[in-house]
This record gives sequence, C-alpha cells and structure tokens, in this order.
Amino acid sequence: MAAPPHDVADLGLARAGIRRVDWAERAMPALRRIRERFAERRPLAGVRIAACMHVTAETANAMRTLRAGGAEIALAASNPLSTQDDTAAALVAEYGVSVYARAGMDQASYDRNLAAVLEHPPHVLLDDGCDLVNIVHRERPELLSGLTGGCEQTTTGVIRLRQMEVEGVLKLPMVAVNDTATKRMFDNRYGTGQSTIDGIMRATNAMLAGRTVVVAGFGYCGRGLAERARGMGARVVVTEVDPVKALDAVMQGYTVLPMAQAAAEGDVLVTVTGNRDVIRAEHIAQLKDGAVLANSGHFDVEIDLTALESLSVEVRREVRPQTDEYVLADGRRIVLLAEGRLLNLGAAEGHPAAVMDTSFSVQALTVAWLVDHPLTSGVLDVPDEIDNEVARLELEALGVGIDHLTPEQESYLHSWRV
Ligand SMILES: NC(=O)c1ccc[n+]([C@@H]2O[C@H](COP(=O)([O-])OP(=O)(O)OC[C@H]3O[C@@H](n4cnc5c(N)ncnc54)[C@H](O)[C@@H]3O)[C@@H](O)[C@H]2O)c1
Repeated sequence: MAAPPHDVADLGLARAGIRRVDWAERAMPALRRIRERFAERRPLAGVRIAACMHVTAETANAMRTLRAGGAEIALAASNPLSTQDDTAAALVAEYGVSVYARAGMDQASYDRNLAAVLEHPPHVLLDDGCDLVNIVHRERPELLSGLTGGCEQTTTGVIRLRQMEVEGVLKLPMVAVNDTATKRMFDNRYGTGQSTIDGIMRATNAMLAGRTVVVAGFGYCGRGLAERARGMGARVVVTEVDPVKALDAVMQGYTVLPMAQAAAEGDVLVTVTGNRDVIRAEHIAQLKDGAVLANSGHFDVEIDLTALESLSVEVRREVRPQTDEYVLADGRRIVLLAEGRLLNLGAAEGHPAAVMDTSFSVQALTVAWLVDHPLTSGVLDVPDEIDNEVARLELEALGVGIDHLTPEQESYLHSWRV
C-alpha cells in the first residue's frame, strides 16, 4: 500500500508503533467489535474526516475503526507533547491514515499541520479542544458548506463550542462526545481513580495501607480516587464545599473534615476539585513532616505553589523523578508530586486503554450517526442509544449478562394508569 500524504518523524518506526497499537487494542474490546461491524457495513464509505487528537496508540485504534467503516482520514496532533512518533508512523504505513504530527513540534508546525488536515475538504471534524472548528469558522468558512458536523472530545472544547452557540456563530452540528454517562464513569471516576494512585506510587513508592489519604473534592474523579485509595488499605478523609456531596461521602463511610483539620491528618493529600487554592498557606502550616501533596484536577492551581515556595527555606528538586521536596523553616519536609500538575499524566501514563475504549467507541458510533442524520447547527448530546450500546458492548466483553424489560414492564414504566 502506498503511504498517504503525511508529515511524521520517521516511517521506519512503524513496526514498533504497530506493536504498541496492538497492545492497546487488547484492552479495547468494544471498539474492536465496532470495527468488525463497520468492516461489514461500511457506514463511512466516501466520508472524509479531519481530526485533531492526541496521536497515541488508543487514538490509532479509533482511526482503524473509522477506516474500517470506509472513511478517509487526515489526523493532526492536538498536543505536541503527547505524540508517539512510532504510532504516527504505524498510522501512515500500516493503517492508511494521513498523519501530520511529530513529538515536540513547535507552534508553527502545529498550525501548519492543522491547515494540512483541512486540505482535502472534510465532511466530518473530530476535535479535541475545538481547534479545527475554530480554524474553519475564522479562516476557512468556505469549508462549512461541505461539512456534515463533528465531535468534540474534551470539556474545554465543549465549553468553547457552547460559547460559540450562545454568541450565534456556531455554524455546524457538533456532538459533545465528552458529555456521556459512560465517559464520566470510565474516564473521570475509574480512569482518574486508578491512574492517580498509580502516579502516587510511581513517584514515591509509598505504602498506602494504614496511611491517611486526603481527597479534596468528592465529584466524579474524587469519588473514584477515594474508592481506590480505600481499596489500597488507606484511611480516606474527604474535604468538600458541596453539602450534598459531603453527605454522600459520610454515608459511604468516609471521614469528612474541613481542609484546616484534614491537612494535619494527611500522609498523602490529593486535590481533584477543578478549583483554585484548595491547599493554601494556612493548610501548609498544618502539614505533617513528610506529607505528600498532589493534584489530579485539570490545572495546576489547586495547590497554592507560590505559598509553598514562600514558606520554604529550601527546595530539593527531583529527589525522585516527578518528586520535589520543600523544607519549611521548622525543618518539616513537604513532598510535591509532578509540580502540582495533573499527577496521572505527569507521573503515570494517563488513562489506561480500557478507559479510552468507551470514549472512542462513543465517538465512532456518533460519526456513523452524524453522517446518517442531517442535523441543525448547535452543540448536541450523544443520543442515549449510543451510550447504552457502548455500555452493552463493554458488558458483553466482560461476559456479563443483564435482564431485559418484558413488554408488560416496558408499558408499566411508561404508563400513568395503574
Ligand atoms: N486527571 C484526569 O485525568 C482527569 C480526568 C477527568 C477530569 N479531570 C479534572 O478533575 C477535576 C474534577 O473533575 P470532576 O469530574 O470530578 O468534577 P466534579 O465537578 O464532578 O467534582 C469536583 C468537586 O470538587 C468540589 N470542590 C470545589 N471546590 C472545592 C474546594 N475548595 N474544596 C473541596 N471541594 C471542592 C465540588 O463541590 C465538586 O464536588 C476537573 O478539573 C477536571 O477537569 C481530571
């Protein structure tokens, strides 16, 4: 097969890339099933897709699925730091995808690559941060008439799309594949729960059993993290600002405390609130000698790093990889992981492939749905049938059967006459 147009670091890396993609695929049974179906039915025959996503082994499996459905794909990296050069090479050489991505590329190359994927006028956009939608609306409006719509993969992208919709400038139907029940469950709860624990352990090699882990924020991510920390044998303390979430944590058997008290008890303290200054000077003042601070929320604003710096008389960088030690005036040592940035990406490998299996399965089914249903412009939810179908495929892969409503039950649930 002749390689499609591309700009990758080294096609010679393709063999290593294929091994990586195959390994990820083992943990992506729902996507594999959809790929088989797509290969039979070819729902995307003749559909040109322009994608801007992380060029990783999991994404490669998503691209293979769309290719099996008959799509032609041009893919640019949504983040230069996450590009796997071997995966990029495999996508071009083995899976027939036009990839424009090199690890560590600069801003000019990033912009050039985004322009390149729009060269063959696409029918569908796959965005991860709203960059393609932005370029099409601002710089290439002539492409709008040929576009059926697209999917957006992240919270930040969905927030931008909603703002475009409010301002009346969004000219495409864009499906928020980020906002599904399966994504929240797999990604935020189970994905962040497991990979945050993984990050703590890789960075510190700490024993969690018998220690106190403080989880700040009991939302989707915090709940997952609290469950996993408890599973490791830790005593878990939760801090919250929302009374309903706090009550839920109490009812699940966690100790709930204000951070002012929790700070003095924690051996490991992790923020996952999406908010700023959750651990600040007055809390740092309470910390135990050797306390470990980490954050798994999106931005590095949850721990007040300026306060930590200013309270410290010495900073020992990289006492282990992704581990800095701050020495306070009274000699207490405070350990900061991954510089307060997303711990599971900084000190571990982000989400396992099994987590991306649901997100990309939803995306693949949504693309097929989009090309089959003319839709009006705006930010759209993923249809419930798709969310349910992906959950069904995951259950099937796990070998788990469930009950089905009888016709009598179905009508009972939809009737007001008893
Ligand atoms: N690490 C990852 O891979 C990953 C994955 C998904 C989401 N995230 C990020 O994690 C963060 C949380 O996501 P979520 O889905 O759990 O959100 P969420 O809205 O479900 O939960 C956040 C919780 O934090 C609480 N909170 C807010 N301010 C607080 C404070 N000062 N002290 C204590 N609790 C406070 C809120 O009441 C809420 O219950 C976001 O920044 C999100 O982008 C990270």
